[in-house]
Amino acid sequence: MNWLSIFSGALASVSNISIIIWLLLITLLTCRLYKIYYDERAIERRKQISLLPSLTKTYLETINCIWQVASLRPLDTLPYFSSVLKSVGPLVYMNTIIRDYVLINDPDDIKILLSSTQHITKGPEYSILEPWLSTGLLTSTDEKWQTRRKLLTNTFHFKILESYIPAFNHHANGLVQSLAKASKNNEIDLHSHVTLCALDIADIREELQGIFGDSDRDATMEDLKSMFTLERVIKETMRLYPSVPSVTRRLNQPIQLKNHSIPAHSIIAFSIYILHRDESMYPNPEVFDPDRFLPEQCNDRHPYGYLPFSAGSRNCIGQKFAMYLMKTVLSTVVRHMKLETLGTQKDIVVSTQLVLKADSLPSLKLTPLFENHKK
Ligand code: HEM
Repeated sequence: MNWLSIFSGALASVSNISIIIWLLLITLLTCRLYKIYYDERAIERRKQISLLPSLTKTYLETINCIWQVASLRPLDTLPYFSSVLKSVGPLVYMNTIIRDYVLINDPDDIKILLSSTQHITKGPEYSILEPWLSTGLLTSTDEKWQTRRKLLTNTFHFKILESYIPAFNHHANGLVQSLAKASKNNEIDLHSHVTLCALDIADIREELQGIFGDSDRDATMEDLKSMFTLERVIKETMRLYPSVPSVTRRLNQPIQLKNHSIPAHSIIAFSIYILHRDESMYPNPEVFDPDRFLPEQCNDRHPYGYLPFSAGSRNCIGQKFAMYLMKTVLSTVVRHMKLETLGTQKDIVVSTQLVLKADSLPSLKLTPLFENHKK
């Protein structure tokens, strides 16, 4: 071993140590700067949140709110949030420790949220769908969502939808046959078919008589387009009982609403079910009245005051498909059956999970009208 190699070895270990020290210093400095930056953002965030009308201003209110939300049964969820919005106002901040929720119910605010092309990330609630749907169109976000939406939009083109009409008719006729069989027991519990339109059926029949006369032929696309009364009945049913009762978004960036700015990382939510019961847009909101959708009654209504299929870039891609399907099934059932409700609207009890669920429905009495179903 010569002096030169001892000297260069010592130099190398000194420089190794200094590199380690430098790395440590840089790491510590980065952590410190990040903490300052994070704290500042947290302070700014808390400042913004403190300006929002809140249900959880104090620790006690926060604990009370968490307790109440945790003990809600699916049946109580919508009435609870409806009462919160009524007591606090159309925008309410709720701190549930794990997440910050901002509930909105002003159509102007809902419009700002839904028409934005930036706030398209779904809230954490949708993750329960992922084991089933994976990150498909409904649950994905950003580029993945954009490419898929673009691809799938074409598959809902009018011409393609038209090719589904025979399948709709086939299944609607199948339903009529199974209902005709079941009607022999006199009463039918249509639990899985929310058919409030049955309450308005006498009206829906006149229109169909005009289109089909006494024929039991299948419906065509042209027929479906001319079912205006049935369309109003479906719209009013979806007003009172929207299949998707609430929508949430995770804010990756802050959003400026009409009167408030909401910081990033909040979860913003609105309830279609509650919005559709806003008395200023729907007087006597619990009353089932399809005429609310006559042009003269709805032309002046806020365009974001009726959202059964949501709106904006993440609206329901299947809405036309769904409308044609509902019209085919309902018109087929009504043309082939006399429907009588054996209860009232009060017998309809709904609860909310990710979709609206009918916990109880009035029973229906169905009487087949065509001879071939009477046998
Ligand atoms: C009455 C029937 C239906 C109602 C009320 C309805 C309602 C909705 C609503 C409110 C949304 C928005 C959800 C959100 O933003 O979180 C939505 C999204 C969606 N709907 Fe529907 N829907 C119906 C039928 C259908 C049908 C028949 C299909 C497919 C054939 C469909 C496919 C979708 C998809 C893929 C999305 C996600 C779109 C996206 O995020 O880009 N829906 N639907």
